[in-house]
Amino acid sequence: YLTKIKKRSYLIVGMSADYAPLEFHATVKGQDTIVGADVRVAQKIANDMGVKLQIKELGFDALIGAMNTGKVDMVISGMSETPEREKQVLFSEPYMYEEQAMVIRKADEKKYKGIMDFNGKT
Ligand code: ARG
Repeated sequence: YLTKIKKRSYLIVGMSADYAPLEFHATVKGQDTIVGADVRVAQKIANDMGVKLQIKELGFDALIGAMNTGKVDMVISGMSETPEREKQVLFSEPYMYEEQAMVIRKADEKKYKGIMDFNGKT
């Protein structure tokens, strides 16, 4: 497979460019371009392989299918590893961790000390 990529001289990376700051559309020098942290990662991988980068923009739900039909060489699209996806493709070691939290008013600090304080209140 590596030989195939090197022979065609570009790496095809699938992305759904609707997920800033990882991959999103931006106007660069008057031109619509896909930019973001994942694009930088993809470019670095292509550079290390000594090939050019081709980004193939697909809907997020189409990415795994595109992998498995050989339309893209790899997917870099802020994709988290889930048991369902794990059955279909191989995931690298995570390169980014994100954490989301619930947000409440400062004034309610005493009211909610832990998750159980929300019990019956939503
Ligand atoms: N991390 C989430 C997931 O894997 C959302 C990823 C969305 N990525 C995107 N390029 N739209 O489901």
